[in-house]
Amino acid sequence: PTVSLWGGRFSDGPADALAALSKSTHFDWRLASYDIRGSRAHARVLHGAGLLSPEDLAAMLDALDRLADDVASGAFGPAPDDEDVHTALERGLIDRAGPEVGGRLRAGRSRNDQIATLFRVYLREHAREVGGLLLDVVDALVLHARAHLGVAMPGRTHLQHAQPVLLSHHLLAHAWALLRDVDRLRDWDVRADESPYGSGALAGTALGLDPLAVAHELGFSTSSSNSIDGTASRDVVAEFAFVAAMAAVDISRIAEEVILWATREFSFVTLDDAFSTGSSIMPQKKNPDVAELARGKAGRLVGDLAGLMTTLKGLPLAYNRDLQEDKEPIFDAVDSLEVLLPAFSGMVATLTFDTERLESLAPQGFALATDIADWLVRQGVAFRIAHEVAGACVRVCESRGIELWELTDEDLQEIDPALQPGVREVLSVPGSLASRSSRGGTAPERVRDQLQEVDARNDEL
Ligand code: ARG
Repeated sequence: PTVSLWGGRFSDGPADALAALSKSTHFDWRLASYDIRGSRAHARVLHGAGLLSPEDLAAMLDALDRLADDVASGAFGPAPDDEDVHTALERGLIDRAGPEVGGRLRAGRSRNDQIATLFRVYLREHAREVGGLLLDVVDALVLHARAHLGVAMPGRTHLQHAQPVLLSHHLLAHAWALLRDVDRLRDWDVRADESPYGSGALAGTALGLDPLAVAHELGFSTSSSNSIDGTASRDVVAEFAFVAAMAAVDISRIAEEVILWATREFSFVTLDDAFSTGSSIMPQKKNPDVAELARGKAGRLVGDLAGLMTTLKGLPLAYNRDLQEDKEPIFDAVDSLEVLLPAFSGMVATLTFDTERLESLAPQGFALATDIADWLVRQGVAFRIAHEVAGACVRVCESRGIELWELTDEDLQEIDPALQPGVREVLSVPGSLASRSSRGGTAPERVRDQLQEVDARNDEL
């Protein structure tokens, strides 16, 4: 039997075209178990308010349990005439508890406060899941950072050789970004921790129900302070979309480097066979598809955020049906991350670094020029002059096709008398790295400290 939620005022059912437009079961059905959890809590507060006898409560809870089982097993699902997950579940409840008991559950609640609440429950669960998957990527990065401590690589700005850095330092830079994303999910949860149940359609409930009891049963520490805000706000959803998009963008930046590093020209890394793909036509190919899909999906997640923000921007208070459009972008963001991140952490964990190549490229491209300037400054030379002298060294090397450390003592003297042979100490990668020893620097001792800091942060999260 089709359950219309508003039969009384209408002489006829909805037009087919309206029903097709209005329908959301194809995406909101995944919220069914959350809606049933909310219904159990709601049944208890109806009983607490004296609106449901102990017998009716027991019958209601029993029917809800059976419904939950049938939903889980797939024995019960949305029918073509069900508008949304709530409509379908009310039909399922009435089937099991009968119209007399089943028809009592809707008192004092609205789909507006229902959906606002259960979407939050869903998001809070998946925020934990996504956070855990992000920490798996952090673990994979830390694994390599620990295993390759001491290996130098070319540090870049503008993608040009800039200064040598430790490979571990570079990898941990990505780890910090991801740890902040996980941190953001935790911060977000503080704001998500408020249950809109009890807000009714917009004005609150007239039936003496206890919103806090529902909130606590659903794992929230409090309920909405304002019923209009509870049903009409979606900033918490948008903020989740932002954090998800930010995490995807941070992952995408790692992905872009893996793609570059795996090219023949860079040859910094080799991808494991299990995390790379071949070509249907070119037998030699080994493609970084995991990283490319990561980079591609980041675009989707940014779109999910932008779409949702645009949906929200013109909405007057309180609930408007536009808000139904908040679900698909978020489900897309969650699904994308949950399918991407396990593959991504696997790809990162199984990378093989060509450490010899990284080491040999580290000083190239005159990456030690700043070290000459810094050395001169330590000898008392003004940085403006030191910069010019180091620049002159580069010019001489470039014209002769040699590297900085190939300049002879005589060459150095000719460029500037201040360039005493002692400058050679910093014209080596280990010397350059060791000199960057203040907090946050790439010196091996600092990177060792950093690994401990990452571990400590990781334990906290
Ligand atoms: N399915 C709707 C949503 O996702 C909830 C139903 C509210 N409908 C309404 N006519 N008030 O937002």
